[in-house]
Amino acid sequence: MPDTNQQLEPGEVRLRDHVYDGIQEYDQKLPNWWLWTFYIAIIIFVLYWFLYYQAGMFNTDGERIDKEMARIDEIRAQQLEEMMGELDDEVLWKMSANTQITNEGAETFKVNCASCHGPDLGGSSTSKAYIGLPLNDPEWKYGGRPMEVLQTVLHGSPDKTKGMQAWEPIIGGSKAAKVVAYVMSYHEAPAGDAPPPVAAPETEGSN
Ligand code: HEC
Repeated sequence: MPDTNQQLEPGEVRLRDHVYDGIQEYDQKLPNWWLWTFYIAIIIFVLYWFLYYQAGMFNTDGERIDKEMARIDEIRAQQLEEMMGELDDEVLWKMSANTQITNEGAETFKVNCASCHGPDLGGSSTSKAYIGLPLNDPEWKYGGRPMEVLQTVLHGSPDKTKGMQAWEPIIGGSKAAKVVAYVMSYHEAPAGDAPPPVAAPETEGSN
C-alpha cells in the first residue's frame, strides 16, 4: 500500500488507498484544457438559458415559422381584399384559371356544398339524392355570369324555400369568391367576356 502523504515527484501520479477486488485507482488531475471546455460549456449554457428562455431574445423555430406564416397570411389577406374590392366577371374568370385558387375553392366546395350539389357538381342531375341544382351544366336559374353566381352564393337563392342559403355569413366573401372560381372552372368564359387566351363559343345562359 503506498503512503498517500508521500511527496510526489513531478510527473508522478498518486495511487489512491482504496482497494476493491484488488483494483486500485490513480488520483489523476484532469488536464486544464479539458476542464476549460467544461467551464466554458457551463458559461455558454447559462448565457443561452438566460437569453433564450428568460430574455426571450431568440425565437424558437416554431415561433419563427408562426411569425412568417402570419406575415404571409396577412399579405395574402390584403391581396385578397384588394381583389375582392375589384371583383368582376373578368377577375372571377381569371381566378377560375388559377389552380391555387380553384384548389382552395374545391376544398370549400367539398365541405359546404357537395352534400347538396354533389362532389362532381352534377347536383340533382347526378342523383336524386342531391337537392342542389347542377352547377356544371350551361343552364343557370339565377344567371351564369360569375358575378351572378357569386351573388347566389353570397346571398342565397331568392326563393328561400328551396334550401340554398346565404353563404356569406358562414364562409365569408373570399371563400365564396374562391368557390365560385372553382365552379366557374367547370365552364368556359364566353368570347368577349374571357380573359385571353380563352376563346369559347358563346355559351348559353350567360344572360
Ligand atoms: C342544403 C343544400 C345546399 C347546399 C349545402 C348548397 N346548395 Fe346551392 N343550391 C341548393 C338548391 C336547392 C338550389 C336551387 C335553389 C332554387 O332553385 O332557388 C341551389 C342553387 C345554387 C346555385 C344557383 C344555380 C343556378 O342555376 O342559378 C348556385 C350557384 C349554388 N347553389 C352554389 C352553391 C355553393 C357554392 C354552395 C356551397 C358554398 C352551395 N350551393 C351549397 C342547395 C344547396
